[in-house]
Amino acid sequence: MQSVSRIGRVAAAAHARRGVQARALATVTEAAPPRAYGNLKDSDRIFTNLYGFHDWKLKGAMKRGDWYKTKEILLKGHEWILEEMKASGLRGRGGAGFPTGLKWSFMNKPSDGRPKYLVVNADEGEPGTCKDREIMRSDPHKLVEGCLVAGRAMGASAAYIYIRGEFYNEASNLQTAINEAYAAGLIGKNACGSGYDFDVYIHRGAGAYICGEETALIESIEGKQGKPRLKPPFPADVGLFGCPTTVSNVETVAVAPTILRRGGAWFASFGRPRNQGTKLFCISGHVNQPCTVEEEMSIPLRELIEKHCGGVRGGWDNLLGIIPGGSSVPVLPKHICDDVLMDFDALKDAQSGLGTAAVIVMDKSTDIVAAIARLSSFYKHESCGQCTPCREGTTWLKNMMDRFQQGNAKNIEIDMIYELSKQIEGHTICALGDAAAWPVQGLIRHFRPAIEEKIAAFHAQQAASSQSSSAQL
Ligand SMILES: Cc1cc2nc3c(=O)[nH]c(=O)nc-3n(C[C@H](O)[C@H](O)[C@H](O)COP(=O)(O)O)c2cc1C
Ligand code: SF4
Repeated sequence: MQSVSRIGRVAAAAHARRGVQARALATVTEAAPPRAYGNLKDSDRIFTNLYGFHDWKLKGAMKRGDWYKTKEILLKGHEWILEEMKASGLRGRGGAGFPTGLKWSFMNKPSDGRPKYLVVNADEGEPGTCKDREIMRSDPHKLVEGCLVAGRAMGASAAYIYIRGEFYNEASNLQTAINEAYAAGLIGKNACGSGYDFDVYIHRGAGAYICGEETALIESIEGKQGKPRLKPPFPADVGLFGCPTTVSNVETVAVAPTILRRGGAWFASFGRPRNQGTKLFCISGHVNQPCTVEEEMSIPLRELIEKHCGGVRGGWDNLLGIIPGGSSVPVLPKHICDDVLMDFDALKDAQSGLGTAAVIVMDKSTDIVAAIARLSSFYKHESCGQCTPCREGTTWLKNMMDRFQQGNAKNIEIDMIYELSKQIEGHTICALGDAAAWPVQGLIRHFRPAIEEKIAAFHAQQAASSQSSSAQL
């Protein structure tokens, strides 16, 4: 009996010790400070010539590590490339944030005899966005090498880079880089001596925002008007010239060689889960030093601005609101900007989006109603007119927003325009309809009093002037 109870006491003591240890562990885990994001080291930056301080041509690019062991990457085969891209957690940098490895793997099906194509989206039309042009102007070999490894992953025979017509210097530098790569045997027949043949072509657009939409872009390369196609079929089945195609953003493609050299796990070590990697952020508007900078994903918005842009003009407390991901995403008021993180999920939870990571900062001097009215005008102008909710809806949004800007409206119309934006959102062929609706929704969600003030001021002024004219009579 005694020994049983002794065993029981020993077991109970051991259990208690384990409990204490477990609690201690739990306390340690709970007490561990949350991982801070940001503060990216120079040695972890992919774009080491973003500001064009160094030689952008082949010799300079090779010194910075481009085209290093590209042949080995190609010889590892498409399955290996796709697995590394999936492991990296990279999500498309063109705006929608679709997982890149998965998207590229859709091309990985038995050949039916049609050639496959990679199309690189270098249209960069989203207002506020200025990152892809920096890559093409100052680090073009990253993109050319990226085309080769992405093309290999998809079994593509060629890449078409669709570049916005206004980007003259960028197209010129890119063409020089392509010519250098051909001359050095890095692309073309037996690219890098790998036995794989791969061509790269540039196609210059004429500068329509809608041509950035992937199927409109394909139409435009084919020589037609840039009007989005109905999906399905998706481009991976029927794309450019009727062949399997994947459209990827410049930044998405340009980061691929470094990911493959340093490993998917290295890239995935930055940012929060599902939001991994480093990212180019373009910050413009009312900051002391607007810039494009590569930082860790999930960096707090406030830290991004204070560390890299010298802060908001007049200090953080002078902030009115920020559009965090290019003109299409809803504006956020200061109290959300105070601690929101810059990644896909955090900004989605805040009812906005990372989009192209084009951060447009507005201080308290901004007429926020006029600012959003200007965007409505842009989307009306850029609608291709194929679908009624977008064609008619963007016109209504613009006309109503113009009246709101003057105050020449009734308060009830604020709910009406919100309802109108909901009738556009999700009811169109392409996402331009959503892009037109979201800025207006963000305005009403967070800045409704600003519209009401304008309406009240307009009616007060009307009443005052009619009083003075009747007094004159
Ligand atoms: C109206 C509209 C304009 C767009 N403009 C661009 C653009 O300029 N550049 C871009 O990369 N993606 C743009 N996109 C997104 C593309 O359709 C596509 O999703 C993207 O190029 C895919 O690349 P990713 O997977 O690397 O993100 C646009 C989409 C829409 C609806
Ligand atoms: S949503 Fe607008 S831009 Fe897109 S296809 Fe329809 S009309 Fe054209």
